[in-house]
Amino acid sequence: MILKGQHVLSVKDFSLDLIHELFAVADNMRPYATRQKVTRVLEGAILGNMFFEPSTRTRVSFGCAFNLLGGEVRETTGLSSSALAKGESLYDTAQVLSGYSDIICMRHPDAGSVAEFAIGSRVPVINGGDGPNEHPTQALLDLFTIQKELSRQGRDIQELSLTMLGDLKHGRTVHSLCQLLSLYRGLKVQLVSPQALAMPTQYVDILENAGHQVVVSDKLDEGLPSANIIYQTRIQEERFATQAEANRYRGYFRLNKQVYSEHCQPNAVIMHPLPRDSRNDANELDNDLNLEPGLAIFRQTDNGVLVRMALFACILGVEDQLSKYERPVNWFPGLDPLRG
Ligand code: CP
Repeated sequence: MILKGQHVLSVKDFSLDLIHELFAVADNMRPYATRQKVTRVLEGAILGNMFFEPSTRTRVSFGCAFNLLGGEVRETTGLSSSALAKGESLYDTAQVLSGYSDIICMRHPDAGSVAEFAIGSRVPVINGGDGPNEHPTQALLDLFTIQKELSRQGRDIQELSLTMLGDLKHGRTVHSLCQLLSLYRGLKVQLVSPQALAMPTQYVDILENAGHQVVVSDKLDEGLPSANIIYQTRIQEERFATQAEANRYRGYFRLNKQVYSEHCQPNAVIMHPLPRDSRNDANELDNDLNLEPGLAIFRQTDNGVLVRMALFACILGVEDQLSKYERPVNWFPGLDPLRG
């Protein structure tokens, strides 16, 4: 596969054919991710998991995905606990860490930093999020989830009517998702945000140039009724100049059971890259939606393991050898951790 030995720094690296190939491999990962079987195909390989910005699901799911393929994980979290805090360059750090690892995942607060790191790396590097710029593996798992959720409704991706909601200015996940959606033609996309947090023009242009029907609005109730998938985002307070400025938008576009019942299609799918801000004054995606069948946020996080396993397998060139190194599980597998 074309991914073998490659860095994954941007969604721009992906064609539709490549995505289809990757998603087919992700589907093959389900027996291992659900602990029906074990594969040791990456036994002996080491992932360097370098997270210089807070993360729960990206960091842990990269680690789990590598472990589920039989590999080992070494981690650094936080700039202050690495030698970057002593003035070491990204180039030197990459040279050193790539001597210890077979592949590296990295998150960093600065746009372009992961690409700069990759220049010094002797092994493939995966971008786990570089500041407000990109989050390519999140966009891939989001697209994978959109396809699965539409399929549950008996729909094809061409029937997608997607509403992206919230802080579209700073949200790197929606920036990356817009670029992936530009590989398709003729979709419906509604972009709903406060005017000051609108989707940057470059991404609106990307969607329009792909022939999508794009509606930009600052009114919550305008963007919801036509959507079969709603993608809520968090106000990215860490990207604002001051906390006071971020606070102006807390709780601005709150999606709760009442709004969902009043304005959304029955069983409209709700996605969110997470974390959702569940503090009382924010509560952008209310807990009173937790039992709605359309709430796909935890199916989305589960899908992240499948897609990240597929990326590791393809980049390290073992996607055709999974079953050769498989064996039954030794323990009681419990509940299906990936909810179908
Ligand atoms: N979606 C996402 O990137 O979550 P984390 O910040 O927890 O990794």
